[in-house]
Amino acid sequence: MSAPASTRTVLVTGSAKRLGREIALALADDGWQVAVHCRDSLEDAKKTSADCARRSGSSAVFRANLANEAAVRKLLPRVIAHFGRIDAVVNNASTFEHDSASSFSFAAMEIHMRSNAGAAILLAQALHRHVVERRAAASDAQSDEAAQGASAYGVVVNLLDQKLWNQNPDFFSYTLSKAALEAATTMLALALAPQLRVVGVAPGLTLSSTMLTDAQFSERHKLALLDRSSTPQDVAATVRFALENQSITGTTLLVDGGQHLMRFERDFSLM
Ligand SMILES: NC(=O)c1ccc[n+]([C@@H]2O[C@H](COP(=O)([O-])OP(=O)(O)OC[C@H]3O[C@@H](n4cnc5c(N)ncnc54)[C@H](OP(=O)(O)O)[C@@H]3O)[C@@H](O)[C@H]2O)c1
Repeated sequence: MSAPASTRTVLVTGSAKRLGREIALALADDGWQVAVHCRDSLEDAKKTSADCARRSGSSAVFRANLANEAAVRKLLPRVIAHFGRIDAVVNNASTFEHDSASSFSFAAMEIHMRSNAGAAILLAQALHRHVVERRAAASDAQSDEAAQGASAYGVVVNLLDQKLWNQNPDFFSYTLSKAALEAATTMLALALAPQLRVVGVAPGLTLSSTMLTDAQFSERHKLALLDRSSTPQDVAATVRFALENQSITGTTLLVDGGQHLMRFERDFSLM
């Protein structure tokens, strides 16, 4: 189904399931056409895309390994070829593999840096180029979009983690890659304004992992100043807010029940 060219389009990376799916559905509820990205979870991605299409009228699945630079560089052009435009990228996909100061290796660092930081930066770079070109074309044609001002600018939302403000040495390379992405959030906001806003959203413990039983997850989810960390709905609502609020850039919204103000010696999954 082809939607009007003016319908806003967002790419949500890693949105086949879990937090990415929740974000994709929330944005579709707001009328966004969602480009659902996945790597391995193709069947889940098709389901998320179908659910988004039921909400906003149009969605499609795009598969890519974000650790592969050539694949990342092709991703936004593929989305633009399908929808005709793109307005926002939510960098949600993330490699999350355990290492520590003693098991750290260049290989572990590289896989996390590539998919969690490098890919997000390349997607911001590509979105900026697209917005600049689109606005130049609109200005030449004196179209409605040229008169829309800031609302026709692009937005990037980077999913970070409260543990950047409450560090422990578990998941060493993952944390390094998110620290790089947090720094990139500031630098990209400076470099790519005014055409792009760049905003970080840092959840607390939100979803369980295979390392935790249900009981352990419930108990650790309560380890927060507010007696509860974030829910997927809290995180999705913050991404919506970051996409809509025209005055936020170069900062991070922490959505974690206050966990970043506490001190945890170990990662939640290894306490
Ligand atoms: N869950 C939490 O409690 C929590 C807490 C703090 C921060 N966060 C942040 O919130 C975001 C979402 O969390 P989550 O737990 O829902 O994430 P997740 O399940 O660990 O990962 C989301 C998706 O990332 C994709 N992915 C991983 N490596 C990739 C690669 N090389 N190329 C392409 N895709 C890749 C996978 O897609 P496929 O399955 O298709 O391969 C995966 O389903 C992450 O950025 C995470 O750091 C989460």
